[in-house]
Amino acid sequence: MTLMMTNQKENKVDLAHLLSMRAAKQPIAMLTCYDFPTARILAECRVPILLVGDSAAMAVLGEDSTLPTTMDYMVTITRAVRRGAPDAYLMADMPYGSYPDEAIVLKNASRFVRESGADVVKLECDASHAKIVQTLTKAGVAVCAHVGLLPQRAAEQGGAGAYKAQGRTTADAQRIIQDALALRKAGAAMVLLEAVPDQVSAAVREQADCLILGCGAGPSCDGHVIVLTDLLGFNSKPARFVEVMGNVPAAIRAGVEAYMTAVATRQYPAAKHQYQMKLPG
Ligand code: KIV
Repeated sequence: MTLMMTNQKENKVDLAHLLSMRAAKQPIAMLTCYDFPTARILAECRVPILLVGDSAAMAVLGEDSTLPTTMDYMVTITRAVRRGAPDAYLMADMPYGSYPDEAIVLKNASRFVRESGADVVKLECDASHAKIVQTLTKAGVAVCAHVGLLPQRAAEQGGAGAYKAQGRTTADAQRIIQDALALRKAGAAMVLLEAVPDQVSAAVREQADCLILGCGAGPSCDGHVIVLTDLLGFNSKPARFVEVMGNVPAAIRAGVEAYMTAVATRQYPAAKHQYQMKLPG
């Protein structure tokens, strides 16, 4: 019997492809995504990396922090994004409280891979999480180590309700660089730096032989991520590193107003929107 080998995944973005972009110094665009229809659009735009961030709590659910997300919610929306963007490199955020020890993190992280088709899980961490990162890596779960500003620990880092840039003093910069290097040594496939000066990112990029992603972390990073709803104009007070490049609320308003006018003026429903009865004879 001859086996026909077809490569159905030839367009799938994988880590090797991302590393080749890093080697070629080709900046990588990455965006958050939380649902199927949006994922389809981002897939059409061929965004190479999508992050199902726990920022969904704020961007989608209207919470005032990322803490309320649960594993079940994250697994469900990650699966929806995977269905919409089968070829993207898909990163899923481990929600608050889902990685307290090695046994629990392994159980939770492997759900993302098995149930959602995620390529990598992201953990907000520091050097004290090295053992957890090692456990996941050994079990075959790729890890992105998120260092710098950690929204799950925002109260501790900046005071209640404040998202405060990190690494702005020499000592703090050194601490973040050491955290990133320790986590890479523990096996993290990539590092994501949030809200740190470019000098910190440049130092990490120079010393860590892996993909360095930045969220408000300067041009030295290999890739750059922002929250999609910030990019598209949903947030009236985005962080300083966000550039608003679209106005989706305006498009929604225009569509909704047109519909309301059509209903009020009886232009909708028109004859073409109605079902006719199939009467005998
Ligand atoms: O949850 C998220 O969207 C994130 C990014 C801000 C990096 O972690």
